[in-house]
Amino acid sequence: MNFTRHTYTLSYDPLDQQVDFEGILRLADEKESTDVFTYLAQIHDQVEGTLRLNFRRLRYINARGIKMLSRFIAYARQRDTLSIKIIASGVLAWSERMLPNLREVWDKVEFSIYDHNFYKSQNIVEDLDFIPLLRNQTRILWPLEKDVLVRHGLARGMKVADICCGCGDVPLLICREFQPGFMLGIDHSEGAVEYARNLQADFNVRNAEFQRGDATALMVDDNSFDFVLCRLSLQIFSHPELILKELIRITKPGGRVYTLCEDYDLIVGNPEGSAIRETYQRAAVYGDDMGMDLRNGKKLYSMLAEARLEAIRTDHIVVDTSNTDREAFARVIESWRTFSVYTIGNSLELSQEDQDSLLAGYNAHLRTIHSPYGYTNWTMVACSGRKPI
Ligand SMILES: C[S@@+](CC[C@H](N)C(=O)[O-])C[C@H]1O[C@@H](n2cnc3c(N)ncnc32)[C@H](O)[C@@H]1O
Repeated sequence: MNFTRHTYTLSYDPLDQQVDFEGILRLADEKESTDVFTYLAQIHDQVEGTLRLNFRRLRYINARGIKMLSRFIAYARQRDTLSIKIIASGVLAWSERMLPNLREVWDKVEFSIYDHNFYKSQNIVEDLDFIPLLRNQTRILWPLEKDVLVRHGLARGMKVADICCGCGDVPLLICREFQPGFMLGIDHSEGAVEYARNLQADFNVRNAEFQRGDATALMVDDNSFDFVLCRLSLQIFSHPELILKELIRITKPGGRVYTLCEDYDLIVGNPEGSAIRETYQRAAVYGDDMGMDLRNGKKLYSMLAEARLEAIRTDHIVVDTSNTDREAFARVIESWRTFSVYTIGNSLELSQEDQDSLLAGYNAHLRTIHSPYGYTNWTMVACSGRKPI
């Protein structure tokens, strides 16, 4: 049972007893306001237990819209037969600011912001301190990845989206190298998006836009992009399939979804090979404890195939000491060392002994990189698929 007008839709999901608000709720007059109120009141009267009002995808609401919601809450208070739960989004400033006021109408209304602490490593990954690590990675990865992107179908003039784009390096490099028709970068971290916008001004790129958003509930129309990327991000989320579903939704039929993920099982080296292997096995286990799957590169093919993407292409991107500047490679491992030993180590409250031995493992890896005869790699899996027509 849906209520749709030109700029918005309210849809009712009986399984969750939830009304999803989507679009821009700009009520024009009292008649429209009463129509929406009546729709909500009808649902109210059919439900028992708890009714959820979900505002994750409502971009905007006008004053008449808020008044209509107050009227509906007053109606629910008067009946007093249901619990009402309101779900707001941290990426929509209006919803955090205005929706809690509905509790003044009825203090039994529950209010939550679904994307505060919505994955375990959120505070760490959305911290500005994380940005230098991302930039160091991009410096050594981009020279190899840009050719892989061509093989996966990225071409000039396309409408491109990078979901979980971090600080914006890669979308802006794509703008420089591929001249897309339009580039949209979306990330949940406020700091990263601000960083990306400043970088865009420095790069003097006009055909790009950076937005704050949640990859599991994108405020982007269906079927709107030719090429959608999600790089080095599916692994940090406990439900990557929810993100993949959204990536596919916003891709045009015939367009491609491109994913790139870490796989710590693929990192090897010589000399000090066993210290290196052991370090990344341990780092992966600590990653598991933080809700991150740092070995999921090998799972991408199955994920894309299960999501019914077609013409799947897979590549290993092997950054190694023979194709990459050793100093630049070492800076990445130094960033990982700090992140793993201290940021994650402190967060998991690892013992001093565990932190010291992890530190020693990263130092072994760094010695291999610095040795002129040493060989080591950082291998990622790139996997893309076509959305069926
Ligand atoms: C490891 S970083 C990778 C960033 C970038 N793609 C890169 O390769 O440099 C993961 C990014 O995903 C973002 N992120 C995590 N969960 C998200 C979500 N639900 N919606 C949007 N962005 C999210 C984080 O803020 C972070 O910037």
